[in-house]
Amino acid sequence: MSQGQFSSASGMLMIALSFFFFASSAFAGAGEGKKAFDAAGCAACHQIKGPAKEKTIKDALAKKGPELWYAGSKFKKEFLGGWLEDPRPIRPMEFYSLTKTNQGNHPKLSGKDAADVAGFLMGLKAPEVKDSGIKPQENQRGRIIFVKKQSCYGCHQVKEKGVITGGLTGPSLAGAAERLSPDWVCAYLSNPRVFKPVKDMPDYAGILTDEEIRDLAAYVSNLN
Ligand code: HEC
Ligand code: HEC
Repeated sequence: MSQGQFSSASGMLMIALSFFFFASSAFAGAGEGKKAFDAAGCAACHQIKGPAKEKTIKDALAKKGPELWYAGSKFKKEFLGGWLEDPRPIRPMEFYSLTKTNQGNHPKLSGKDAADVAGFLMGLKAPEVKDSGIKPQENQRGRIIFVKKQSCYGCHQVKEKGVITGGLTGPSLAGAAERLSPDWVCAYLSNPRVFKPVKDMPDYAGILTDEEIRDLAAYVSNLN
């Protein structure tokens, strides 16, 4: 065997081995994440297996926290790890409350557990969320629908010129760019019942065209 053949063969072996270690450590990461999720009692408030369980308003009100069975399709990974370590309110009001302000007392995880749990949650995907090819952008058509035509703004906070304004009923969309996947926003607006069978937000499927939903998804997923 010549020197060149030898080094390319050993190079291949190195690549195969490092792939093996990478794959097995990613796998161990997901297992650690599930363990940390269970140990911290997260399952007491969060559903991690789909499909959505709630059928009536009573079921929806009994939920103690948002479902996470499609977390990997909804969130950006960089956001999740950081948020679990330092959870700031996303919903201005307490979950399913119209009167109590969110006190921001969500359980916190330490750095390693936060990263492991984020890895585990990112593995929870919903097949309904397809690759939409939507790129976050300052989309003027989306903006007009959001602010004027459908007044999404009446229920959702956004940041305008550095100031937070907008309604308090829904989750804040200020910072949606770092938090939400455009593919999920599109899937959610197109088919909300997959994610929230008991609707709390108006259903825009059939009211907005597919094109308008794509414009909105590009606009929303670009909000800072
Ligand atoms: C006592 C109930 C409760 C427990 C326990 C709990 N959560 Fe939550 N979780 C909530 C509520 C309520 C929200 C909504 C908070 C907000 O909007 O600011 C939330 C939000 C979240 C979100 C964002 C979901 C979204 O759709 O916006 C994630 C991710 C999350 N929790 C993960 C976890 C993890 C991981 C644990 C375990 C360490 C955990 N939670 C423990 C109640 C809980
Ligand atoms: C009447 C109030 C209301 C209006 C109007 C409204 N929403 Fe919502 N929206 C909500 C509520 C409430 C939720 C949370 C749903 C739930 O958890 O059941 C929500 C959830 C969302 C989410 C998911 C956010 C997250 O972090 O989970 C997005 C994205 C969204 N709305 C976008 C829009 C857009 C775009 C429009 C306009 C076309 C709109 N909303 C109009 C109340 C509203």
